[in-house]
Amino acid sequence: MAKKGNKRYECLECGYIGFTWSGRCPKCGAWGSIEEVVEIPSEDVGVKTTLLPLSLHEIKSPKRLSSEDEELDRVLGGGWVPGASILLAGEPGIGKSTLLLQVCLRMAQKGRNVVYLSGEESPSQVALRAKRLGMMPHSLKIGCGDNIDELLQSITEADLTVVDSVQSFMSGELSGLPGTPSQVRAVAQRAIVLGKRSGCPVVMVGHINKEGMIAGPKLLEHMVDTVLLFSGDRLSPYRILRAVKNRFGATDEMGVYEMLDKGLFAVNDPSMLYWRGKQEKTPGVTVAPIVEGSRAFLVEVQTLVANSPFPYPKRTAIGVDVSRLQLLLAVLERRCGILTTSHDVYVNVVGGISVKGPQIDLALCVALASAHYNRPVDPSFCFIGEVGLAGEVRPLPRLTSRIKEAKRLGYKRFIVSRGQDLDMFEGISLCKVGNVKEALKEVGL
Ligand code: TYD
Ligand code: MG
Repeated sequence: MAKKGNKRYECLECGYIGFTWSGRCPKCGAWGSIEEVVEIPSEDVGVKTTLLPLSLHEIKSPKRLSSEDEELDRVLGGGWVPGASILLAGEPGIGKSTLLLQVCLRMAQKGRNVVYLSGEESPSQVALRAKRLGMMPHSLKIGCGDNIDELLQSITEADLTVVDSVQSFMSGELSGLPGTPSQVRAVAQRAIVLGKRSGCPVVMVGHINKEGMIAGPKLLEHMVDTVLLFSGDRLSPYRILRAVKNRFGATDEMGVYEMLDKGLFAVNDPSMLYWRGKQEKTPGVTVAPIVEGSRAFLVEVQTLVANSPFPYPKRTAIGVDVSRLQLLLAVLERRCGILTTSHDVYVNVVGGISVKGPQIDLALCVALASAHYNRPVDPSFCFIGEVGLAGEVRPLPRLTSRIKEAKRLGYKRFIVSRGQDLDMFEGISLCKVGNVKEALKEVGL
């Protein structure tokens, strides 16, 4: 234990505590993560409470407040939870401020008391953005400055508070510039306490640094109830919102937006982003329906298999895990005799989406075989199945949603696993296969 009066230093990555400062944590090896421990006055920490047996606590499901944005509501699990703290992370310029100001404006237009605190922009800049977004309601209060304590004190009653961003504010009680790990932590702590005391949901913006980490202490992710990630390719207008942590809901929901001249608009039909419509017969291209949260949509899988001039052929995968690709190539080699050891293999899932898990295994195997033989697969086929190491095709969950979405877009022929429980569908043909070899035979490869 530290003696009274001794300075203590803490690693913000792993929690190591030492009595001397060092540029690198001796425990976890992180650089620049050691900070002096600053004691935050005890009356400011958390909400005072007494110990009670768990069984005596009232069980009430939180009454959620709509953000007036359907995509955001779905990602949050049904809207804002009273008193919850939310971190919205994303690269600079991706549209975090736009999204939150838009939400604030819409909620204010519905008569909610909303407070938007900005440490990055002046009131006139915020007003200019609001004008661009086409709304100027009275019940939206703007606070600009860099002292979080003063700004939070001025909040008397609010249905939502936005802190944009956690890196641009500072707490007067600590020395150090905004953005340093201890300042970021103190600012977040102040905002979280305000939320817990007043029951107002608090959203904090957090920038992501070059390594893709939320800049500032990793600890921030542990402190908040929900972490949302806003991402997308800056050159494309599409943005994806996901929850990477959610104490009040699932983390598999996804919101898709398009950044236009007058703000962010929901993309109601994501299939249109990841699927180009039915194409001409092209070798190496297949289609599969995937499910993200409660939504299903189609993705197009493109592959190219070319002779390699190198002794170590390349495996390049965009949108799927490269180790998954390697596994499927090994399955194709051992179970179907498709040898790619002297070929470069490229995979791309159209539209820039990253497909998680085994959802497109079967589509990818068939696409690779088609590219290898340079023979196209009939574009009216849709593939649904996970592929195991024995080459077997396994069932995927939510078959009905997948088939419904593909059917909506005009697909009528499905290759699925023999083990799949099937509902009745009208107007489609389902072909059940036990392994990849059978699937290849079925599509004429
Ligand atoms: P911004 O919300 O400021 O990004 P962040 O807060 O994540 O750093 O948005 C930045 C970009 O969005 C900026 O380049 C301008 C563009 N934009 C639009 O295309 N349309 C709009 O209606 C608005 C408000 C911004
Ligand atoms: Mg911003």
